[in-house]
Amino acid sequence: MIRVGILTASDKGSRGEREDRSGRLIGEAVQSIGGAMAAYKVVPDERDQIAAALREMADDLGLDLIFTTGGTGFSPRDVTPEATMDVVERLAPGIAEAMRAESMKITPRAMLTRGVAGIRGRTLIVNLPGSPKAVQECLDIILPALPHGIEILK
Ligand code: MTE
Repeated sequence: MIRVGILTASDKGSRGEREDRSGRLIGEAVQSIGGAMAAYKVVPDERDQIAAALREMADDLGLDLIFTTGGTGFSPRDVTPEATMDVVERLAPGIAEAMRAESMKITPRAMLTRGVAGIRGRTLIVNLPGSPKAVQECLDIILPALPHGIEILK
């Protein structure tokens, strides 16, 4: 079983003003690779809070895989990639490259996500965009490759 953390970065979501469809969608989709949601959190688009939540899920909970959703675009409040860069020790650029390259076949706006992926200890952290549509498309692209990567990390 792959223990998965889901971290939604959303100002509105953290205030309870928006239902987190993307977070729920991730929880359902990971079942296809034997993943189970072991932690779930919604935080505002604040670099320190995102980084702290990632550290907690990786270091204290020892999760195998963390997906963030949201905060990867160009809005001044979008800081999820920067928070992720604060905590990862090694980058896994191929994951973000694959998402952008394949997503470009669906929409040119795919180039607007600044998401990154990387490794902290034995935890793989992957930034996904915020919309449910983008999350579904990106997961379809990367999920098949992730179990092998996670296996090697152990
Ligand atoms: N990737 C896919 N596969 N499908 C999409 O519809 N939307 C893009 C991009 N990536 C999209 C996508 C858009 S419009 C934006 S602005 C960025 O993701 C950033 O999204 P975020 O700020 O919600 O993280």
